[in-house]
Amino acid sequence: MKNRQLTDTAQALVCGGRGLLAMDESNGTCNKRFAAAGITQTEPFRRAYRELLATTPNLSTCISGAILYDETIRQRTAEGVPFATLLTEAGIIPGIKVDIGAKEMAGHPSEAITGGLDGLRERLADYWSMGARFAKWRAVIALDDRLPTAACIAANAEALAGYAALCQEAGLVPIVEPEVLMAGDHDLERCRLVTETVLHTVFDALYEQGVMLEGLILKPNMILPGLACPIQPAADVIAEATVTSLLRVVPAAVAGIAFLSGGQSGELASERLNAMNIKAKASGSRIPWPLVFSFARAIQRPALEIWKGQAVNTAHAQQALYHRARCNHAALRGEYSAALEAA
Ligand code: 13P
Repeated sequence: MKNRQLTDTAQALVCGGRGLLAMDESNGTCNKRFAAAGITQTEPFRRAYRELLATTPNLSTCISGAILYDETIRQRTAEGVPFATLLTEAGIIPGIKVDIGAKEMAGHPSEAITGGLDGLRERLADYWSMGARFAKWRAVIALDDRLPTAACIAANAEALAGYAALCQEAGLVPIVEPEVLMAGDHDLERCRLVTETVLHTVFDALYEQGVMLEGLILKPNMILPGLACPIQPAADVIAEATVTSLLRVVPAAVAGIAFLSGGQSGELASERLNAMNIKAKASGSRIPWPLVFSFARAIQRPALEIWKGQAVNTAHAQQALYHRARCNHAALRGEYSAALEAA
């Protein structure tokens, strides 16, 4: 029964031609983004911003699920409706970030281990009662000539698998996010190698812990050169590298793949996702999973910049969010174009 519920939720999130809106920045990260945009960093402003996102007209035509942060799932709109209820009634499945962030890893300078397993069973039961039907846990893997270490990969893979097993026990679909970071000057090949190693280790750990892959969504990075790498390949090269890597290490049973944006611009993220879906279409059934998006920065950035914390800008900011959602929605069908971007 639970398995059926998990696969139904996972499929509703990734199989209907829509993608996910990640609006689950922790208070610290949200405040950092607000500070950069000159917005007051307080709870009422974070609430107002999340309300702006969640009440964007027609959002559910492009968005199947929205990932919330603990603060947001406990908040209500100005009209007194809990965010999870608002989203559910709009046809968007509410999800919740359940990790408590990446902390410096003991004995491994420059590497991090994500925490949040203590008390997770109880927190998941709570989130379920608040309306969440899926969850997210992000591990971060830094990369340079020497990193990541096998210890960092293994520790994060174990934590991701433990989290995923607890989610499924609670009836929530786990989104498993092992993010290989874009910071650095490494090339595409180095990112490919590290990403494949990480994913391989993560799926070993998921297998060991008996996680049901049909009720799980993978949230990986695209295979990209570091932001400071002088060679930045075209979208179809990135699409080819990403799809090739995923085919090598991700079991076909996984319900779907929902990419993070990781600091790419909105346009590049849409273009690259589009290139992957063109490839998927051309390959017939060779690519076994829906390839969708679960972006935060690449979908929210223009809206945040337009809003500036002022109610008068809300409608305009919502249009900007809807535009990015529509571009990414088109990219799921391989129909994103410069004309659509400029529309
Ligand atoms: P970005 O799309 O900004 O990378 O965020 C996705 C996310 O959920 C990070 O955990």
